[in-house]
Amino acid sequence: MSVRILALVGSLRAGSHNRQLAEAAVKLAPEGVEIAVHEGLAEIPFYNEDIDVEGTVPAAAAQLREAAAGADALLLFTPEYNGTIPAVLKNAIDWLSRPFGAGAIGGKPVVVAGTAFGQYGGVWAQDETRKAVGIAGGKVVEELKLAIPGSVTRFAETHPADDAEVAEQLTEVLNRLHALVDGEQAAA
Ligand SMILES: Cc1cc2nc3c(=O)[nH]c(=O)nc-3n(C[C@H](O)[C@H](O)[C@H](O)COP(=O)(O)O)c2cc1C
Repeated sequence: MSVRILALVGSLRAGSHNRQLAEAAVKLAPEGVEIAVHEGLAEIPFYNEDIDVEGTVPAAAAQLREAAAGADALLLFTPEYNGTIPAVLKNAIDWLSRPFGAGAIGGKPVVVAGTAFGQYGGVWAQDETRKAVGIAGGKVVEELKLAIPGSVTRFAETHPADDAEVAEQLTEVLNRLHALVDGEQAAA
């Protein structure tokens, strides 16, 4: 049975290096793993309990919940904005965290990775993302991490999929996530 992974990207810009990392993951996905990069995070309004009511949930938020519910695991690629998680990704996590106790991210393995310009590759943002995901009910995969520094220069001319070191590290993350989900499915 194939493992379905939903990738979310915490940057909206067309030339995003985190989006490129997500594209690299799609390309490098091991056999038996399907990775879909979710589109439409920009269309989701800021989380608001007043509209998170049956009949008024925005379509883009409902689509995100549906995509997460249909996935076996999530892979979040995020830059760091001012030392923390970009609002677009936090908003997606907030929508996935509700209904309380039954959010679409609940119990799903979630790996957080990404690239940022700073020398640590956005580890603050990644740590904040892991914290939020865990509180939202996701099962943070703490042992799988990938933070690539120097995004703007490293990937100026080279797509992450064509960067041998990055491709190797990303492949390792994907293989280990595959094994983890396979193991969980076998035990279920
Ligand atoms: C508003 C803003 C804040 C940023 N803050 C940080 C930061 O705190 N740490 C860091 O390493 N890079 C920071 N950067 C640089 C980003 O990490 C870098 O531009 C990254 O490539 C953006 O991700 P993207 O290529 O996926 O769009 C910031 C960029 C922006 C636009």
